[in-house]
Amino acid sequence: MLDKINALKAEIEAATAANAADVEALRIKYLSKKGEVSLLMNDFRNVPAEQKREIGQAINALKTFATEKINSLREAVENGPATDLNLDLSRTPAPWRLGTRHPLSLVREEMIDIFRRLGFTVAEGPEIEDDWHVFSALNFATDHPARDMQDTFFINREPDVLLRTHTSSVQVRAMEKHQPPFRIIMPGRVYRNEAISARAHCFFHQVEGLYVDKGVTFADLRQTLLYFAQEMFGPDTKIRLRPSYFPFTEPSAEMDISCDLCGGKGCGFCKHTGWVEILGCGMVDPNVLEACGIDSKVYTGFAFGMGIERITNLKYRVSDLRLFSENDVRFLEEFTSAH
Ligand code: PHE
Repeated sequence: MLDKINALKAEIEAATAANAADVEALRIKYLSKKGEVSLLMNDFRNVPAEQKREIGQAINALKTFATEKINSLREAVENGPATDLNLDLSRTPAPWRLGTRHPLSLVREEMIDIFRRLGFTVAEGPEIEDDWHVFSALNFATDHPARDMQDTFFINREPDVLLRTHTSSVQVRAMEKHQPPFRIIMPGRVYRNEAISARAHCFFHQVEGLYVDKGVTFADLRQTLLYFAQEMFGPDTKIRLRPSYFPFTEPSAEMDISCDLCGGKGCGFCKHTGWVEILGCGMVDPNVLEACGIDSKVYTGFAFGMGIERITNLKYRVSDLRLFSENDVRFLEEFTSAH
């Protein structure tokens, strides 16, 4: 009989109730006239006299236990879940704090997106390069000052290992590996041996573009860059190409866009010219095509290269280049809404 009492106690202890009907069902099962406890009372008559005291106490204790348990379950379903936690349950949840994308990443992605719409795909190459891919294949004369220790970080002289000073090296790698047509853009980090200041840094980022096929002309170059400028800086943006020099392009040009701060009227930002320079470009020099194994009598092409920092400065007016690499959260958070 004691075993039966203990089993019932365990059963009652484990009982749960989701609502008032559950509680009532438990009451009927254990405490009603025909409930388990009453049945025990009936059996009590047959208990031998010497055990009556012990078993009588056990049944009474079970009855008290069941009554208390069922009362507390009833209270719980009437009052809802316990609210004595030390929390303000009505508080609005804390806002989900997302990280921000780096402004240079935002602008790089936007540039890639614009050129993608013209059919350009992305190509990449190594940052640690050799003289051939950064200079020689690109028609730099052996005594060109850009090879000087002043500008280039050399890692080793013989054999030559250096940090690329521009992404034009990726043009060479692409043209050595494949035959035209090419319509690629090549984003990447470049290194130059410059003292770090607000206007210069020892590393920065470029996006190079290359288009080589039969019959590509300077007009194609101009139209591509006009499309880019207007997508990036707005439909009223004007472009201007000025003759320039790069060893790897002939003819070469530098491109200005109309200053969007003063609308071309002239202000401090554009040094009162109404124009700001954004990139270098030109028709790929036949020597470069030949150095890369491409027949310059069959194919022509154009190339352009620009600094991502420069475009970001123009778009977001960041005046100090060092901000881009200092990872000051206050600066980075200003670009939260620029996604
Ligand atoms: N590589 C040049 C630079 O770093 C930019 C450029 C690329 C110019 C392609 C013309 C054509 O300044």
